[in-house]
Amino acid sequence: MVTNFEKLSASQDGIVDSQNHNHQSDLKMLRLLNNNKDSLRMDDLVLLLYGHSAFQSLYAGCELGVFELLSRQPELSQAEIGQQLQLEAYPIKALLLGLTALKLILKVDNKYRNSLVIQMLFLEGIWQEFYDTVLFEARIVYPGSMDFVESLRQNRNVGLRQFPGKGPDLYHRLSENPPLETVFYNFMGSWSKLVNPLLLKNVDFSHFRDVVDVGGGDATNSISLAKAFPNLKITLMDIPASCQIAQKNIDEHQLTDRINVFGANIFVDEFPQEQDCFLFIHVLVIWSLDKNTSLLRRAYEALKPGGSVVIFNMMTSDEEDGPVMSALDSSYFVSIPHEGGMIYTWSDHENCLREAGFTEMKRIYCDYWAPSGIIVATK
Ligand SMILES: C[S@@+](CC[C@H](N)C(=O)[O-])C[C@H]1O[C@@H](n2cnc3c(N)ncnc32)[C@H](O)[C@@H]1O
Repeated sequence: MVTNFEKLSASQDGIVDSQNHNHQSDLKMLRLLNNNKDSLRMDDLVLLLYGHSAFQSLYAGCELGVFELLSRQPELSQAEIGQQLQLEAYPIKALLLGLTALKLILKVDNKYRNSLVIQMLFLEGIWQEFYDTVLFEARIVYPGSMDFVESLRQNRNVGLRQFPGKGPDLYHRLSENPPLETVFYNFMGSWSKLVNPLLLKNVDFSHFRDVVDVGGGDATNSISLAKAFPNLKITLMDIPASCQIAQKNIDEHQLTDRINVFGANIFVDEFPQEQDCFLFIHVLVIWSLDKNTSLLRRAYEALKPGGSVVIFNMMTSDEEDGPVMSALDSSYFVSIPHEGGMIYTWSDHENCLREAGFTEMKRIYCDYWAPSGIIVATK
């Protein structure tokens, strides 16, 4: 018996099912209606159906050291990889099957090597940043995402319950769980290190002096900025527990006299006044648009005339159809850190800026696999 599943696959491959004309004409009609926009294949759907396994394979390859081993020593056999990673024959067989089928590694003449994309991460010196991102996905996003459906139903970040603690959101719970805090800030620092060259390349900070890094995290961005622009004096605002991590990094980079750390609640404590620039880097994805507007209004009021707000994070298209990474990252913000966040569209941010008082704003699109965008708004 031919199942509907097989019929659909066959018809997608252009095979005419002469036994079922109605079915075929339905599909033809659907294809016309969906225009050329519809590109999902059964193979894509299978990858989604098993998406959890695909990610777990990637994570296992990272955590157990397969990619690092193959980056140093390509062309190893299954037995050699097992031996070097101290894994028995059965688990290494299963793991390498997954990694090969997912195209992460290649098997040629019974020898394994990294795919070009994986090897490129090593060659470009960004493996650690990628690895920290995988760890964050595995240890924080994965468990919390179990509650995505419930979060949608209840219109709140139900997945926070996967992280014990008294804090009202994920950020306030991190210091209650030091291993998790390390995973989070390793990721956040790595992610910022990966993408902040886009900000430094596209925004000229040379005419500013006093800059505030709102929710500045471990200070990765403040440090890069201070090094690239010696004219800047930066105030980093974050919750007191996270400020300790920032201060340690700032001290290590000997930038204590240029970057001042201010432990604060950015919704409550007064912003430093008469500033040239307020940075919102990877933060206006955490809260609702109303909350974002209130932060931007506070920044507007604290800026000197001619000063700017710079928003830098992933952006969703105004058509709300991607990019896919923005869409997938949104489910993390819906489920876990705080109520009301997601990767908002460019125009969502612009509307908030207008409500906060800004009239002059500029979009800067950054062409990178992590789809970042910049909006500069001037008072
Ligand atoms: C997603 S991280 C971004 C960190 C940094 N901007 C970066 O790009 O690497 C968000 C940061 O906002 C901080 N944060 C969250 N709620 C806050 C609040 N109410 N007051 C101050 N900081 C807050 C968190 O502690 C965290 O460091």
